[in-house]
Amino acid sequence: MINIRVLKNYNELSSTVADIVEAQIKEQSKLVLPTGSTPLGLYKELVNRKLDWSLILTFNLDEYLMNPDHPCSYHSYMKKNLFDRTNIYPDNCHFPFRPTLSFEDKMTLGRRIDLCILGIGTNGHIAFNEPGSSFKSRTRVVNLSLQTIQDNSRFFDSIEDVPKQAITMGLRTIMESKKIVLMVNGKHKLTILNVAMNGEIIETVPASILQRHNNVEVYYCD
Ligand code: F6R
Repeated sequence: MINIRVLKNYNELSSTVADIVEAQIKEQSKLVLPTGSTPLGLYKELVNRKLDWSLILTFNLDEYLMNPDHPCSYHSYMKKNLFDRTNIYPDNCHFPFRPTLSFEDKMTLGRRIDLCILGIGTNGHIAFNEPGSSFKSRTRVVNLSLQTIQDNSRFFDSIEDVPKQAITMGLRTIMESKKIVLMVNGKHKLTILNVAMNGEIIETVPASILQRHNNVEVYYCD
């Protein structure tokens, strides 16, 4: 069972997690970063703090199988919301790529990930590990579930434009991080969050694997 810390509002969610990231940025760290609507406030806050990102390596959780220059790609999202607004070196920003084994090698070379920030999908996915993903999974190409395609269609002109496949870090890959922070924003996520954090640890609820990690913090606001 994981303790869920309830915060007053979205600003507090963003600044609380920004404090955790800032503490990590004072060291030479390896960070895993999410996209989506939840971390937008976090990125804004981090940009405002004008931190020194010059020694930081980042690894994004996932990317659609699409042209990385497309405005809806996660490459574009990260550039727009964080990378282009800090002094991070573009060569230090990694996204899952093929061959996926080389991506994992890059991630684990030298030392483990220090901090992994996650969001959760309404179906319990973390990164794009959809319900039914193996707890032993590593970075790979996956088919997106209908639920995820519907949820993410808000970022595209139409649902037909949402890619049907993505490359995602696996659940085992994520679990190898030294510390994990899960950010959750919105009442519509409360039921799945409770199931994942307090219910059975089962592959149909991918986020439930986090119960097996010894350094997880969960922050929620509605
Ligand atoms: C995206 C990612 C996804 C999102 C999740 C929640 O990189 O890893 O698992 O965190 O789909 O997305 P939002 O924040 O848009 O509700």
